[in-house]
Amino acid sequence: MNIHSLFCVSAFFVTLQMRFFFSLAGPLLVSKSNATNVLVLPLKTQEIQSPPSKLPFTHNVTLTVSLAVGTPPQNVTMVLDTGSELSWLQCNTTQRDRPVFDPTRSLSYTPIACSSPTCTTQTQDFSIPASCDSKNLCHAILSYADASSSEGNLAMDNFTFSGSHFPGTIFGCMDSGFSSNSDEDSKTTGLMGMNRGSLSFVSQMGFKKFSYCISGSDFSGILLFGDSNFTWLLPLNYTPLIQISTPLPYFDRVAYTVQLEGIKVSQKLLQLPKSIFEPDHTGAGQTMVDSGTQFTFLLGPAYTALRNEFINQTASVLRVLEDPNFVFQGAFDLCFLIPINSSGLPELPPVSLVFRGAEITVSGERLLYRVPDEIRGNDSVHCFTFGNSDLLAIEAYIIGHHHQQNIWMEFDLEKSRIGVAKVRCDLAGQRFGIYH
Ligand SMILES: *[C@@H]1O[C@H](CO)[C@@H](O)[C@H](O)[C@H]1NC(C)=O
Ligand SMILES: *[C@@H]1O[C@H](CO)[C@@H](O)[C@H](O)[C@H]1NC(C)=O
Ligand SMILES: *[C@@H]1O[C@H](CO)[C@@H](O)[C@H](O)[C@H]1NC(C)=O
Ligand SMILES: *[C@@H]1O[C@H](CO)[C@@H](O)[C@H](O)[C@H]1NC(C)=O
Ligand SMILES: *[C@@H]1O[C@H](CO)[C@@H](O)[C@H](O)[C@H]1NC(C)=O
Ligand SMILES: *[C@@H]1O[C@H](CO)[C@@H](O)[C@H](O)[C@H]1NC(C)=O
Ligand SMILES: *[C@@H]1O[C@H](CO)[C@@H](O)[C@H](O)[C@H]1NC(C)=O
Ligand SMILES: *[C@@H]1O[C@H](CO)[C@@H](O)[C@H](O)[C@H]1NC(C)=O
Ligand SMILES: *[C@@H]1O[C@H](CO)[C@@H](O)[C@H](O)[C@H]1NC(C)=O
Repeated sequence: MNIHSLFCVSAFFVTLQMRFFFSLAGPLLVSKSNATNVLVLPLKTQEIQSPPSKLPFTHNVTLTVSLAVGTPPQNVTMVLDTGSELSWLQCNTTQRDRPVFDPTRSLSYTPIACSSPTCTTQTQDFSIPASCDSKNLCHAILSYADASSSEGNLAMDNFTFSGSHFPGTIFGCMDSGFSSNSDEDSKTTGLMGMNRGSLSFVSQMGFKKFSYCISGSDFSGILLFGDSNFTWLLPLNYTPLIQISTPLPYFDRVAYTVQLEGIKVSQKLLQLPKSIFEPDHTGAGQTMVDSGTQFTFLLGPAYTALRNEFINQTASVLRVLEDPNFVFQGAFDLCFLIPINSSGLPELPPVSLVFRGAEITVSGERLLYRVPDEIRGNDSVHCFTFGNSDLLAIEAYIIGHHHQQNIWMEFDLEKSRIGVAKVRCDLAGQRFGIYH
């Protein structure tokens, strides 16, 4: 998926030992000083102006990280996307008003030939196979679920995280396309693909784990490559990643697929057969953890059951917007009217997504999203942050980053599992010396 996360600025390579030393002066210690190198990047969520159209998957928040590419280094800002593979940068220098990477100014830039094994075998998980252009260079077309796409050449260059170099990192140097959101394009240089495919950024860097933590309060957070078994964090609850042996048309084999087992509203478990959370014979129905999608999408039967139960449990405190013509972002058809002058939301029943071995609970203001500029009389419109996949013809459950706030999200590639733990991400960031 096209993830919308923006991380801010510089990455830096630290050892925990070093951080421990630096932290001694402050009250917040990185209590485990004995780890291998980890790479820590400040993570920032950035507001994006939503385009006026009601395109599916529009979003106004992205997670980005900033780093340097090329020799001499050029600063780039990339959207973090656990839902896609190939990282890419906008390389078309004739584009105005948008940050670009200029390959002609980098001595270490190397385009990849279409005869190279990188082009012929490593691009096999792309939805559109790579091809040869007129110069016999490897040409890639990337398309995303939000209908955006980009197109350009596969290339290698030196990626730098404040002093540590990753020469020969493969990425797409894109000439055309870009996203469906021009404001996002104007703020970011490209996208960092983080799925399980062999060309994803994390696979190329060779880290066996990465984690991120998105603050719910101040648009900050961290992205960390390496081990995250800090004593202040433990224990994480783990849910296994689901793998399938045979390729199926609707199953993304390089996504972070987990097993959803149920949904609770307050403590009430929705009466749903477990089979509706399992991929069918076509592969439709997988559950993906995606940092590139803002909200969460559920397949029709699960969505409808959740919708009904949420309406039922909030009947005394919320007024449903009865307007069949209003569907926010094409997928969110449960919205409520809340007086503009009210000081906050009423108390709402938490919604829990129950996975095999772990649970994510969404509560309070994260359950409702105030639709910008949508006023009805003296009321503002707030939509339920779970959408209906069926309305967008998406054959999957997608857990978006809005529901991953204040959760330590560990992606353990080696043990093929995702770990979650409830934390204050602003405080977690401070342990690594990241302040916003
Ligand atoms: C590092 O951690 C391991 C396992 O927790 C422990 O056995 C080892 O003694 C530690 N080493 C140091 C230098 O603290
Ligand atoms: C983005 O979403 C936040 C809520 O998460 C909202 O407060 C803000 O007004 C939105 N901004 C735009 C530009 O839509
Ligand atoms: C990578 O970039 C850094 C900074 O520009 C430079 O010092 C280093 O020599 C480069 N490495 C390679 C292999 O080009
Ligand atoms: C690139 O980023 C670094 C670190 O944030 C900053 O010091 C430097 O001035 C930036 N360079 C350019 C050309 O913007
Ligand atoms: C670069 O962008 C310009 C302006 O959008 C466009 O006209 C041109 O075709 C693009 N170049 C390539 C090689 O696609
Ligand atoms: C943390 O992970 C490292 C590397 O996997 C391992 O050596 C160490 O024992 C772990 N420490 C704890 C406390 O689990
Ligand atoms: C909520 O559901 C319960 C049990 O299913 C039902 O008895 C009750 O009437 C419902 N309340 C509302 C407000 O729909
Ligand atoms: C909001 O305005 C309504 C009238 O429109 C009034 O009845 C209500 O008391 C006000 N609530 C608050 C919290 O000010
Ligand atoms: C909005 O509130 C004002 C003042 O409380 C009231 O006079 C007006 O009738 C309200 N409008 C609607 C559409 O409810």
